[in-house]
Order: sequence, then structure tokens, then C-alpha cells
Amino acid sequence: MAKFKVAIISCGMIANNAHIPAYKHLPDMFEIVGVSDINEKAAKDTAERNDIPHWYQDAGKMLDDLCPDVVSVCVPNAFHKEYTLMALRHGAHVLCEKPLAVTYADALEVYEEARKQGKHLMACQTVRYTPDRIAAKDLIAEGILGDIYYSEFSRIRRRGIPKWGTFHIKELSCGGAFIDIGVHMVDTLLWLTGNPKVVSVSGTTAVKIGNQENQLKSGLRESGALSGFVHNERNFSKDELNVEEFASGSISFENGMRTNFKVAWALNMPDETGFTLLGDKAGLVLPQMQLYGSTGSYPADFTPKINNDDPYQKHPFGGHFHLLDHFSDVLLGKCEQMISPEETINVAAIIDCFYRSAKTGKEVFLEDIK
Ligand SMILES: NC(=O)c1ccc[n+]([C@@H]2O[C@H](COP(=O)([O-])OP(=O)(O)OC[C@H]3O[C@@H](n4cnc5c(N)ncnc54)[C@H](O)[C@@H]3O)[C@@H](O)[C@H]2O)c1
Repeated sequence: MAKFKVAIISCGMIANNAHIPAYKHLPDMFEIVGVSDINEKAAKDTAERNDIPHWYQDAGKMLDDLCPDVVSVCVPNAFHKEYTLMALRHGAHVLCEKPLAVTYADALEVYEEARKQGKHLMACQTVRYTPDRIAAKDLIAEGILGDIYYSEFSRIRRRGIPKWGTFHIKELSCGGAFIDIGVHMVDTLLWLTGNPKVVSVSGTTAVKIGNQENQLKSGLRESGALSGFVHNERNFSKDELNVEEFASGSISFENGMRTNFKVAWALNMPDETGFTLLGDKAGLVLPQMQLYGSTGSYPADFTPKINNDDPYQKHPFGGHFHLLDHFSDVLLGKCEQMISPEETINVAAIIDCFYRSAKTGKEVFLEDIK
């Protein structure tokens, strides 16, 4: 079988630590033919370090020259749409880093282009693959929770504002903690609960800690560079921080479910990554995998034994390895995308409503921004 030719747009932390190793893990399926980055050194060093034959500063020229079958879009969030459209129009399937889109309109536009071009477009929502979440998905599909009418999620880093890149600069990242780490929680929640359509979001944002010079100590791992190293770290200044470090809010869905959440890059609370899902048959708390149900007419607690043999658990970005295993099957026509366009459009709708609500101080309805 001919290999899929891959090109990677941008050579930062996630390209080097996740995309490139995950493609290289499947050498019979993928061959990375080129990388690009506006930073010449980043592109050249990445190509040389990984034995990639071509590097470019201009992504468009790379796509013209190499005609890749698959493109990874790993640029800062503000450029996801531009490069995703460019890659689709060059006839490539696209894996775009999260958040794939930060407005409802942009999400519709890029998926419409993918449909027009007949190409796959999938968001790198790489944290669905933890054993507890996979088991939760099965249990919910089996009806163990019944009708889920309330949920919560918390994604808290006590101290973890990303400092290696440009996550803290709104013009490049489009937002802060909510779209950086909250987006994974929103995506996972929608996946677990069958993608109910968002009706409205009320949200608030804050910066209270990251603007204090003596509160900025945090390692790379704690702030999301899970391998503990980056190749092209830039200097961080708290004076550039113009996005939220803390987000909280409430989402209502068409099926009647309500979700309350808090997300933080910095908070005076312990680290936490968890979901609570409440159904009319049982409640479930993750990652503890604790089920609060009943046996006969008596309340009873259960802790299902789950399979913990994740083959990629030792890799800091194991989710990207799972993602590429799955994307290979999609490309070979063996299955549909598990991270569906409908889910990613719903995620973008929630992001869009959230930031509009935080700005206006009012509940924002999707119907009103369509
Ligand atoms: N799925 C995950 O778990 C995960 C984890 C971390 C980051 N990400 C996502 O990956 C993306 C990149 O994050 P990162 O940590 O690699 O950031 P980074 O700052 O390390 O790298 C960004 C790279 O993009 C380049 N760049 C900037 N503007 C560009 C442009 N206009 N054209 C081409 N290249 C450009 C920079 O030179 C830099 O090399 C973000 O969207 C982020 O949300 C995803």
C-alpha cells in the first residue's frame, strides 16, 4: 500500500512532541514529507532532527510543492481556520489542533469546505482516550446512568499558565484557559453524553493570579508541555497576559441537561480534572469511576473494574497516538470519524457563546448568534 504523504504546518511544541512521534510510530501508513513554520530556524531544526526531507517558511509553497495527502495544522489558534482551509483546498485531509474553531461561523465554514472538497477534517481532541472515559462512554451507551440531566466538570491547574508559546496573547490564542484546556472537557462531555445541542451559555472570566510576578512559578509539564521540554521557548512576560486564567459558567442543552464548570490555568485550589454525570438511574464521578446507583430498592455504590492496558500510557502525548491509529482507519475507509464534525461544531458554538457571555455579562443563546 502506498503511504500517505504528510505535511505539518508549524514546528512548535505540539508538532515536535506529539504529531511527529505519532506519525513516525506508523511508518507503514505515513511518511512525513515536509514541515513549515514562519520561524525559519524552527522549521529547519525540526526537519533535520527528524530526518524530514523538506522544510519551508511558507506553508502555501510547501503544499504546492509536495501535494501532501494529510496535513497537520499545529499553528496558534488564531491561524487554524486559514491553514485548514488552505490545506483542504490543496486536496489534503486535515488534522487540526484544538480548538479547531473558536466561533460557530468558522466551524461551519471549515466543515463546509471539507464537505465540498470531499476530505476528512478532524479536531485533535486527544484526551478522550483515557481508560476511565472510554469505560464511561460504554456504560452510558449501555444505559447504566439512564437519562443524564445534570453534569459538572472541573479542569484546574493550581499553577500552570503555559509560558513557552503564545497561549497568553489573545491576538494569537483567541482566549485563555477555557479554550486551551476547557475545550478538551467540553468535547469529552459532548462525546460522553451523545452530543446534545447547546442552547445557551453563561460565563465569567478572570485574571487574578497570573498578573502577580511572584505567582508565576510552574514547570513545563504542569502547564501542558507534557514531555517536559520544548525546542523554541520564547520569553514570557506577565504584561502580555490578556486572556483569562480562570473561566466558570453554565451551559444548557436542548435535551434539558445543564452543565456547570470551572477551568483554570491558575487557582488557589488543588489540581483537578474531573466530571460528574447525574442520571435518573445512576450518577458517575470520573476519573474515580465511582457509580452511585441502586440495587433492588436500596442505594448502592459500585466501582467497575476497567481495563487499564493503554498501550500508549507511557507516552506524554499518548492521545495523539490513539488519534492517529483511529485516523488511519478513517483514511482507509474502515470507520467514521469518532470526533465528528457535529461534535466539533457544537464545541465551537459553546466557545463562541461563552466568550460573548463573559464579555457582556449576559446569558448568550446560540439561536441569537446564528
Ligand atoms: N491536543 C493537545 O493536547 C494540545 C496540547 C498543546 C497544544 N495544542 C495546540 O497546538 C497548537 C500549537 O501549540 P504549541 O504548543 O505547539 O505552540 P508553540 O508556541 O510551541 O508553537 C507554535 C508554532 O507556530 C508557529 N507559528 C506562529 N504563527 C504562525 C503562522 N502564522 N504560520 C505558521 N507558523 C506559525 C510558531 O513559530 C511556533 O513554532 C495550538 O493550537 C494549541 O492549542 C494542543
